Amino acid sequence: MLNYPSNLKHERIRTWVEEMAALCKPDAVYWCDGSQAEYDEMCSRLVKSGTFIRLNEEKRPNSFLALSDPSDVARVEDRTFICSVRKQDAGPTNNWLDPKEMKARLNQLFDGCMRGRTMYVIPFSMGPLGSYIAHIGVELSDSPYVVANMRIMTRMGAKVWDVLGADGEFVPCMHSVGAPLAPGQQDVSWPCNKDQKYIVHFPEERAIWSFGSGYGGNALLGKKCLALRIASTMARDEGWLAEHMLILGVEAPNGEKTYVAAAFPSACGKTNFAMLIPPKAFDGWKITTVGDDIAWIKPGPDGQLYAINPEAGYFGVAPGTSDKTNPNAMASITANTIFTNVARTPDNDVWWEGMTKAPPPELIDWQGKPWTPDSGRKSSHPNARFTAPAYQNPVIDADWENPEGVPIKAFIFGGRRSNVVPLVMQAFNWNYGVYMAATMGSETTAAAVGQVGQVRRDPFAMLPFCGYHMGDYFNHWLQFGRTIPNPPRIFGVNWFRTDKNGKFLWPGFGENMRILKWIVERANGRAVSVESPLGWMPRYEDLDWHGLDGFSREQFLELMSVDREQWKQEMLEHDELFIKLYDRLPKELIFIRELILSALWRSPEQWALAPEIV
Ligand code: OXD
Ligand code: MN
Repeated sequence: MLNYPSNLKHERIRTWVEEMAALCKPDAVYWCDGSQAEYDEMCSRLVKSGTFIRLNEEKRPNSFLALSDPSDVARVEDRTFICSVRKQDAGPTNNWLDPKEMKARLNQLFDGCMRGRTMYVIPFSMGPLGSYIAHIGVELSDSPYVVANMRIMTRMGAKVWDVLGADGEFVPCMHSVGAPLAPGQQDVSWPCNKDQKYIVHFPEERAIWSFGSGYGGNALLGKKCLALRIASTMARDEGWLAEHMLILGVEAPNGEKTYVAAAFPSACGKTNFAMLIPPKAFDGWKITTVGDDIAWIKPGPDGQLYAINPEAGYFGVAPGTSDKTNPNAMASITANTIFTNVARTPDNDVWWEGMTKAPPPELIDWQGKPWTPDSGRKSSHPNARFTAPAYQNPVIDADWENPEGVPIKAFIFGGRRSNVVPLVMQAFNWNYGVYMAATMGSETTAAAVGQVGQVRRDPFAMLPFCGYHMGDYFNHWLQFGRTIPNPPRIFGVNWFRTDKNGKFLWPGFGENMRILKWIVERANGRAVSVESPLGWMPRYEDLDWHGLDGFSREQFLELMSVDREQWKQEMLEHDELFIKLYDRLPKELIFIRELILSALWRSPEQWALAPEIV
């Protein structure tokens, strides 16, 4: 018999935890209450076990550094499975195994996998507790590092039992680092299983099983596993959207507030955009953050779309984050933060590439080794992270915890493309927008294990996160648009175009406000644009340039240029994706492809930033 919390009335959860404890055979079962005292105790335990290093209490109060095993540093997409009953429902972009076979494998792997460890029962809400948009998960994990991170990233604790009552719905999330301890065996500071890793989703059952990794999205199961892969299947079935999107508010000097949601593939400056500080010339404009990674979006009673951020914290990429690139992120991590795989300074603070212009003369690197600027390697892992509470963000939106969500006026999609894709454009209509998002490509980064720097198609930035057939997902978006009377406008952006010397053409960061202003005004039915073969585009004179001295019309035109030869190749790549998804590809997308092709092959004089004004 387990020592149940007094307010747990849910028979199914009791039985499930008992069964899982019998399978995993932990030494103890601990029910997390989510209190500060419990968090502090968990961190002290992690310091004692060597997983955490307590950072300088004056410089970084109540903050810790964890250094992972060098083999466990990012999401493992090749070990991530969508085990739907039918293979064709997972689609060609997901790994699949027959659920019966996978369960047999998992049962073997989990049998006794928590020996010598404690099983933590972690109840959590994705979204404000009790919100009609929120969902509940319960993670069973043998990692106290996961417990500490989940307390920051979700609304975690005993109050969740009250929300669930006797028979509320929840997503069961099994997690083990896959490193049982024999009696008397000394633990390591980052237990994981180097040989066997499985991140498994059962979409029909709405269950998650994760084995062998303790890192980020592999282990904090509320984030990518629940809030995207499982939630996307719920959203398909129930008529809403679970998206890999930040949500931000734009407040104009006259007080008009507009919310937009934006999808970018991993580590494309999403957190920077979510916390953007407008340039000085935009006096009176304010950007506020609702979320930096995931949006759950449902139609409200008034026909508008309302979004919540299901998370409560930021699991942000540290390298490249600085007072220059993202002062609000820097302010968010001044205290109560867990850092993973960054470097440590001699006075026990943290440092990473890009934090300051000049690196400190000496550091301890992410592998615990002495480091100097001439050691010829990076001090922090490129996918090093901070876990910080969202409420510490100085520009957090006043409504970020509003259980009703915030009304969304525009969707923005942006990949990392050094060429081909213009700085900004607006889709002609919802279906064109779906096409634009479906065919989005991005040059790969370090957030997932694998090749860096190649263009991969990342539809809706959801390629690693869609819990079902991508063709069905496109169809869900098309269908969804048909049911909304006045759907949000859809835009594409590309901050990453370079010139022939590889230098960025666009300054990015705060200057993205200029593009955002145009987007917001378009979404609100104002702002001028012209028709191009790809969508509506601003002309040079349609953007607000004041305060950005010397940014010329020519530079702008280079950023906006559409090169037919490059687009030939681009359209062939769209085709390649469509052929891959052909069995479930909505035919609308094929017709839109034809329309774009015919527009592209009209005489350029007819469209190249033509003077037609809408
Ligand atoms: C993330 C990712 O960690 O997208 O947010 O990889
Ligand atoms: Mn993400």
